[in-house]
Amino acid sequence: MGYLQFFIFALISVSSLRSCKGIDHDGSNDNNDDDVIGLIAFKADIIDSSSHLSSWNQDDISPCSWKFITCNPATGRVTELSLIGLNLSGKIGRGLEKVQNLQVLNLAHNNFTGSLNLQLSLLNNLESVNLSRNGLSGNIPPFLTNSRRLKFLDLSKNSLSGPVPDEFFLSCSSLRVLSLSGNNINGPIPNSVSQCTTLNHLNLSKNRFSGSPNFAAGLWLLTRIRTLDLSHNTLTGRVPDGVSNLHYLKELFLQGNHFSGGLPSDLGLCSHLRKLDLSNNLFTESVPVSIQGLSSLTYLNLANNVLTGDFPEWIGELNGLEYLDVSGNGLTGTLPESVGGLGVLTYMSLSGNNISGNIPKSLIYSSKLSVVRYLNLSWNNFETRMPLKLGYFENLTVLDLRNGAFHGSLPADICDSGSLQILQLDGNDLTGTIPEEIGKCSSLYLLSMSHNDFRGFIPRSMSRLKKLKILKLDSNQLSGEIPQELGELENLLAVNISYNRLQGRLPDRGIFPSLQASSLEGNMGICSPFLKGPCKMDVPKPLVLDPFSYANQMGNHEGGTKSSKGSKHHKFLSTSVIIAILAAVLISIGVLVISLLNISARKRLQFVGNALESCSSSSRSTRSLTIGKLVWFDSKIAPGWVANPETLLHKAAEIGKGVFGNVYKASLGEEGRDLAIKSLVVSNMIQYPEDFDREVRVLGKARHPNLVSVKGYYWTPSLQLLVTDYAPNGSLQAKLHEWSTSSQPLSWTKRFKILLGTAKGLAHLHHSFRPPIVHYNLKPSNILLDDDFNPKISDYGLTRIVAKLDKQVMSNRFQSALGYVAPELACQSLRVNEKCDVYGFGVLILEVVTGRRPVEYGDDNVLILEEQVKMMLEEGNVLECVDESMGRYPEEEVLPVLKLALVCTSQIPSSRPSMAEVIQILHVIKTPVPHRMEAY
Ligand SMILES: *[C@@H]1O[C@H](CO)[C@@H](O)[C@H](O)[C@H]1NC(C)=O
Ligand SMILES: *[C@@H]1O[C@H](CO)[C@@H](O)[C@H](O)[C@H]1NC(C)=O
Ligand SMILES: *[C@@H]1O[C@H](CO)[C@@H](O)[C@H](O)[C@H]1NC(C)=O
Ligand SMILES: *[C@@H]1O[C@H](CO)[C@@H](O)[C@H](O)[C@H]1NC(C)=O
Ligand SMILES: *[C@@H]1O[C@H](CO)[C@@H](O)[C@H](O)[C@H]1NC(C)=O
Ligand SMILES: *[C@@H]1O[C@H](CO)[C@@H](O)[C@H](O)[C@H]1NC(C)=O
Repeated sequence: MGYLQFFIFALISVSSLRSCKGIDHDGSNDNNDDDVIGLIAFKADIIDSSSHLSSWNQDDISPCSWKFITCNPATGRVTELSLIGLNLSGKIGRGLEKVQNLQVLNLAHNNFTGSLNLQLSLLNNLESVNLSRNGLSGNIPPFLTNSRRLKFLDLSKNSLSGPVPDEFFLSCSSLRVLSLSGNNINGPIPNSVSQCTTLNHLNLSKNRFSGSPNFAAGLWLLTRIRTLDLSHNTLTGRVPDGVSNLHYLKELFLQGNHFSGGLPSDLGLCSHLRKLDLSNNLFTESVPVSIQGLSSLTYLNLANNVLTGDFPEWIGELNGLEYLDVSGNGLTGTLPESVGGLGVLTYMSLSGNNISGNIPKSLIYSSKLSVVRYLNLSWNNFETRMPLKLGYFENLTVLDLRNGAFHGSLPADICDSGSLQILQLDGNDLTGTIPEEIGKCSSLYLLSMSHNDFRGFIPRSMSRLKKLKILKLDSNQLSGEIPQELGELENLLAVNISYNRLQGRLPDRGIFPSLQASSLEGNMGICSPFLKGPCKMDVPKPLVLDPFSYANQMGNHEGGTKSSKGSKHHKFLSTSVIIAILAAVLISIGVLVISLLNISARKRLQFVGNALESCSSSSRSTRSLTIGKLVWFDSKIAPGWVANPETLLHKAAEIGKGVFGNVYKASLGEEGRDLAIKSLVVSNMIQYPEDFDREVRVLGKARHPNLVSVKGYYWTPSLQLLVTDYAPNGSLQAKLHEWSTSSQPLSWTKRFKILLGTAKGLAHLHHSFRPPIVHYNLKPSNILLDDDFNPKISDYGLTRIVAKLDKQVMSNRFQSALGYVAPELACQSLRVNEKCDVYGFGVLILEVVTGRRPVEYGDDNVLILEEQVKMMLEEGNVLECVDESMGRYPEEEVLPVLKLALVCTSQIPSSRPSMAEVIQILHVIKTPVPHRMEAY
């Protein structure tokens, strides 16, 4: 190689050599020599590890016999060079500039790196250049398109950065197809793009283009355009009228930006439009009526905007529609009869709107409609019975009716067609028995009907669902024994039958003997199949969190000493004592302190001067204090009573500043148990102690080994303190980024344990509460570690308290979790749900596995971890980004965990798995089973 390179160097730099070589042949071959020289020079810059280019020999007279080369037979000159997907790396050298007759250059899908300094403009005959799917970096050269005949230019899926220079578009008069998609290009879309009047296809998607494009002076002048793709950038502003100038427009993709305002009202005049995707923006107002004129439309996606108004009753006019998604908007009204006219629809999602009323009969009875494959009516407000005759939909494969306010019984004909693969009915008010006919759903692999009111036995016929992988029946009223036949379901990977009234022995085969307790708890008495003798009844104990019952608490918060059943250790203070203490504290030092009466206590409440001081300044200014209220959820903490709070003021112990307020460490109770006390930031906002009490009590119930438990709270109108467990081993943030030589970096085993535990904590928040508790603010500093590196999630549910009160504060505070904010959260008015925690969890995985922060600032650009990992995964070198400090690790675990992260960080909330599914997947990764879940 060294020799070859030297040879090439000599070949190029010593011009005399060229003329010497020319002497060997007749004059007409001079130019062929240029081709040989150029290509050999180009090859010299390439690392060709698989020796694809071995036929390229510098001693040949003509390159026309070399592989991957096409020549013009008349002139013997090289016209085409196609090196697609040959695993070539190195840089694209300027040797190519010598191949003067080149018309087609395709180097797509290799591993070329470095910046693009090839002067394409020197190649006057070039018509098509494809450098897609490489690792090219640096800026886009301004005069790249200067080549007179250039028609196709594809630079997609590289790492090009910086803004597109104005000059780039000034000489594009012959360009038909331009793709810059999938790079890191930022800045505005220059108005000079309007010079490319011949463009048919412009793809600027998946970059970081920003600002509000001047459509009127730019894009709306591209009158020949057929496909315009600006999706997945950060473009803002209105999309004004004028789109109808684009007479030939067939596909318009604006999804995944921050466009706002109403939709352009002349959209309906683009009569050739086939595909329109405006999803995941901030479009408002109602869907323009003109859209009904788009008779060629096959694909319409308006999902996840802020559209309002009634569900369009003219929808039936779009009778070529195959795909319709209006999910995640604020549409109201009822489904019009005309949906039945959508004869070729295969996908319909209306999920997450406020559509009500009956499902029109036309939808069911129109025989044409049997082509619907995917029907999602979830998260609406139908308040009707489940539609009958769904079995009519011959090819229906996915039926999602979750949280649709459906009532009544499950129609027995649901599986008449047998095509259904996914049936989700969770969170409705369905009742009655599960029909025996469920056994006909022979294609089903996901059946979830949790959180309904189903009664009776689990039908034996379920054992005929041979493909079933996931079965969720939890939180119903199912009774009797679990049919032993279910043990025959060999594909089952996950089962949850918790919180029913089931009893008896579990099936002794299949997944059942290995089910975790959490999938079984809350039943009448389920026992192991291996236990001898009869099953003992195991009536669940009610969870008692608070020695003072809720009713007592609310009834008496104005005062009165209240001692209740469970707690002999402490009592509530009488109002007068509290007043006396508060008054003394406030008046003399302006500081507020709370505590409990416990005369015998020696250990004292070590309280938090700074917190109190900072709080007191506001309380002094507002002068609106009423009596504070202290509530404990845990009778085991018998906090010391402090008669004279002043003595504690010096013992301030601030241990951190969280998004929601400062955190202090305090030692309470007989054993001086360490607790953390968080003073919430949005003091003056919380006017009603009842609201606060209700919200915090919900948090208090969230007991789980992977959640920091909330022990109690203190409330006054201007100061709210939350008392939680204290975690001795610090946060994941510190262990991940701030470890020093004295402490060990985290091993893979610990990292996996932390991820799995965190997933379990989140799953508990999401799946054990209705409505689910959403964290909204997951990040490593909110994951505390105990001595055994068990993760404990903190700060959950705080947004629940704070969000109700001040959205502004909320949105400002979200920004601190940079990189963790799910895309849909960027918009406050959008409907958000627990899927944004799944996104956060995905980012957490990436941070834990790579040891890198989700967003890093380079010299002139910003690196988004998720995008990088995705790119490296596509390129097959993702293991290079794994944190080196963790030492040896099993690739067969790390790789699928990274893939899981990318699924969790999917831009579209509905494509993210649920946390319960995440746990199942993590279990599968850790203990490979013969049947991995193909579905996820
Ligand atoms: C790209 O190159 C790197 C090393 O330079 C290699 O590990 C990786 O497999 C290559 N990827 C592809 C898709 O050829
Ligand atoms: C791609 O190239 C890398 C080194 O650059 C080599 O390790 C790998 O085996 C090659 N892959 C294929 C499919 O040729
Ligand atoms: C460039 O090459 C890639 C990979 O072969 C292909 O997918 C893409 O369509 C090509 N681009 C153009 C503009 O032809
Ligand atoms: C734009 O390019 C990306 C590849 O980076 C591709 O996925 C997408 O389909 C293209 N858009 C259109 C409309 O062809
Ligand atoms: C849904 O619409 C009904 C009126 O049809 C209204 O009362 C209700 O508040 C709406 N729900 C939501 C979540 O917007
Ligand atoms: C259902 O799908 C099958 C296979 O794709 C197809 O042959 C059949 O025509 C479809 N049925 C209807 C009613 O579209």
